[in-house]
Amino acid sequence: MQRSFLFPLFLAVALAATACGSPSDDDDASANAEDGPTWHQDIAPLFHAHCVHCHSEGNIGPFAFDDYDEAKVLSQWIGNNIRQRVMPPWSAVASDTCEPPHPFKHDVRLSQDEIDLIVDWGRRDAPEGDPATAAPLPAPIDRELEDATHRLDRGSTWDIGTADNGYFCFVLDPEFDVPHWLTAAQVVPDALDLLHHVFLYLVPPEQAAEVDDRLGPEGSFECFSSIADDGFQPLVMWLPDSPPLRLPEDSGVRAEPGSRLLMQVHYHAWRETGGLDQTAIDMKWTDEAPAREARFEVVGSNQPAAVVTDAPFSIPQELNQHVEELQTVVPADVPASRLWSVSGRLNHAGSGLELRSGSDCLLSVPEWNLDWMRLYQYDAPLEELPPLSGGDPLSVSCEYDNTWANFGLRDVLEAEGHDATFTMGLGPGELAEMCVGVLGLVDDVP
Ligand code: HEC
Repeated sequence: MQRSFLFPLFLAVALAATACGSPSDDDDASANAEDGPTWHQDIAPLFHAHCVHCHSEGNIGPFAFDDYDEAKVLSQWIGNNIRQRVMPPWSAVASDTCEPPHPFKHDVRLSQDEIDLIVDWGRRDAPEGDPATAAPLPAPIDRELEDATHRLDRGSTWDIGTADNGYFCFVLDPEFDVPHWLTAAQVVPDALDLLHHVFLYLVPPEQAAEVDDRLGPEGSFECFSSIADDGFQPLVMWLPDSPPLRLPEDSGVRAEPGSRLLMQVHYHAWRETGGLDQTAIDMKWTDEAPAREARFEVVGSNQPAAVVTDAPFSIPQELNQHVEELQTVVPADVPASRLWSVSGRLNHAGSGLELRSGSDCLLSVPEWNLDWMRLYQYDAPLEELPPLSGGDPLSVSCEYDNTWANFGLRDVLEAEGHDATFTMGLGPGELAEMCVGVLGLVDDVP
């Protein structure tokens, strides 16, 4: 079974929330409407800045939050959702035990004041306000990489099919005959109503033939977790609200001649309409070596030789909040570097992740969500970023919920014909686990 049942569920929950919520528990609703927040004056600009690029006609999110009538019907439900900080999707949240050294760039979260305002608006029965004095709406998010040097696509339109929630990989060949360095990239999305995320990995020349061979006759192969299973460097982790990726100034990720790019696309086909897609990727490459080399390193359960643990990795059946803590090191060949970007990866049983260097917290994800991974970029000058070099100790601590109550896990178990969870180990595929961090590093040279 796939997640196509979600849409009716959304509607049922939304309507139930509306039916038992409003306005009876707000007797003062209309009386105070004049003084409180209104759609045109306060709420529409917030929804345009944080929600509408996903929640509008032709985009991936259910419902159109650029439509007053639709937002009004759902206003109390939206309030509950954002109060719990489920939306907008953003997982890097400091906890009592782990607070990263810097804030992150492009943080899409609502502030507490904005959340309070939207909740208050819902409680007052979502007044519309006066369109004549509407507050200006922010510009749509910038999706273009104006200075791209290359656009790569898979050569033909891809038929997504209607059945499922699939992960597909496409192989792109940049056809380099000398080394090149990637300095910027951005996804050029096509089927925005079905694209959940797009990741781009760099495949070294030694593995090019292997990925070429995995391609089926339709020009793709199903792939789930190239990040740890194959050990490829992730270059781009795109969600529909992601701005272009730019590597730190005067730096680039080196690609040897013969390299391939692996584009992994997650299609979220809950609309059951299927569709065609021609998503491409814009990139800025240079064949002049930049002052600093940049690289992404994947650390944790993919480095069996480096990891030290007390016991073999094993997540017991029907256990929630099970923690595996892996002690490892930055790969030996990494020169003196600064850490500018962090991420991590768990599978469906994952529920939390912390990445540390010694006692310093680098990334805290208290509520892991496989659907919404990002490359989080520290918002600080290079010289203030955490220094890291080959051999430095790291710990990746991963928490799992291996119970039937874990909705995302249950969904996949059922699809594979299981009716209970089982003890899970490390491995490839959707019903095994991993525990990895991603380090975005840049040479620490003048
Ligand atoms: C990056 C795209 C994206 C952004 C930005 C986004 N959403 Fe969503 N939202 C989704 C998708 C996709 C779903 C469907 C469930 C899923 O796939 O996780 C969803 C589901 C929801 C739901 C119902 C889900 C539930 O389980 O409770 C609500 C309510 C919601 N979003 C509100 C918002 C609001 C309000 C904002 C802005 C403050 C926002 N979203 C921003 C993509 C987005």
